[in-house]
Amino acid sequence: MTKITFSVIKADVGGFVGHSSMHKSLMEKAEELLEAAQAQGLIVDFHVTSCGDDLELIMTHRRGVDNEEIHRLAWDIFAICTEVARQLKLYGAGQDLLADAFSGNIKGMGPGVAEMEFEERKAEPVIVFMADKTSAGAWNLPLYKMFADPFNTAGLVIAPTMHAGFRFEVHDVKEHKRVFFSCPEELYDLLVFIGAPSRYAVKAVYAKDGEIAAVSSTQRLALIAGRYVGKDDPVCVVRCQGQFPAVGEVLEPFTMAHLVEGWMRGSHHGPLMPVPIHEATPSRFDGPPRVIALGFQLADGHLIGPRDMFADPSFDEARRRCNFIADYLRGQGPFEPHRLPMDEMEYTTLPQVMERLKERWEDLPE
Ligand code: F6R
Ligand code: MG
Ligand code: MG
Repeated sequence: MTKITFSVIKADVGGFVGHSSMHKSLMEKAEELLEAAQAQGLIVDFHVTSCGDDLELIMTHRRGVDNEEIHRLAWDIFAICTEVARQLKLYGAGQDLLADAFSGNIKGMGPGVAEMEFEERKAEPVIVFMADKTSAGAWNLPLYKMFADPFNTAGLVIAPTMHAGFRFEVHDVKEHKRVFFSCPEELYDLLVFIGAPSRYAVKAVYAKDGEIAAVSSTQRLALIAGRYVGKDDPVCVVRCQGQFPAVGEVLEPFTMAHLVEGWMRGSHHGPLMPVPIHEATPSRFDGPPRVIALGFQLADGHLIGPRDMFADPSFDEARRRCNFIADYLRGQGPFEPHRLPMDEMEYTTLPQVMERLKERWEDLPE
């Protein structure tokens, strides 16, 4: 059997209401188009979902990563859904489609992409994480915990299949460079970089034998377009069990409610709240940032599922903690570190205000 490719491609092509959620007609249109692609044999299986205002296409196929036909399919779906969004006058219709026409690879054109190709194991549990109101580096801390932190992942210590550790592929999203770190040997070097998630993002994680374990989307829209065009709202795919962390070890980092950037106007820090799908509707101050987790078992490329992994009372405390942290941060209004540092903010009036006040700034007396 040829290898299976697991592709998650997403875009914000229109929000309902504002940037808070997705109108069902967009999802219905995407499903209809993916059903046709499945009937033609282009893809093996699919699942359509949404996280906040992002339309998420989860697809399996046998064409490998970066496949032009698969990327074109996703692009066409986003373009057609944009038309639906325009008819309904949804908010920000087509906002993530940065080009007029598809040109071979959807990467760098606005939508987020996370893809991996592998040989399906006897049983293949996969979890797809999808987040809204945050950016690519949001996965750095959870991926570190899943694959490198023995306080999170017991298997690193007590499972012979995982004791050797994992390799991290880290991208410098500004300079377009990458570097690999072998852990646990190079843990401290890894942390020097991934502790700065707005610049360095974990793109993928591999077992020591080279088998792919996890992959994330690292697109930064603002860097592609050279201006603020919306949030990156990343996705991440993680294989579980056996030589990889157990499902529970993969979910455990999200009990922390770590702080991420991307809340309100892409310009505020907020806690990442793990929620069931029906609660992936960021409304308070356009947030707080959300993450959903859909679990699947693969069966010859077919997606058995999904299971809504955060629809579990064991995440109630994390959600409560998020609300507490959200209250605390909101109290700080326009002051850092609730608001992002100046050069990271995606909205700013600084140039205009500076220009208006330029005559009023005077030198300090000696
Ligand atoms: C969108 C987001 C929102 C918007 C805000 C202003 O993902 O983060 O907080 O930035 O609602 O949106 P505009 O500028 O479209 O009115
Ligand atoms: Mg939006
Ligand atoms: Mg979004």
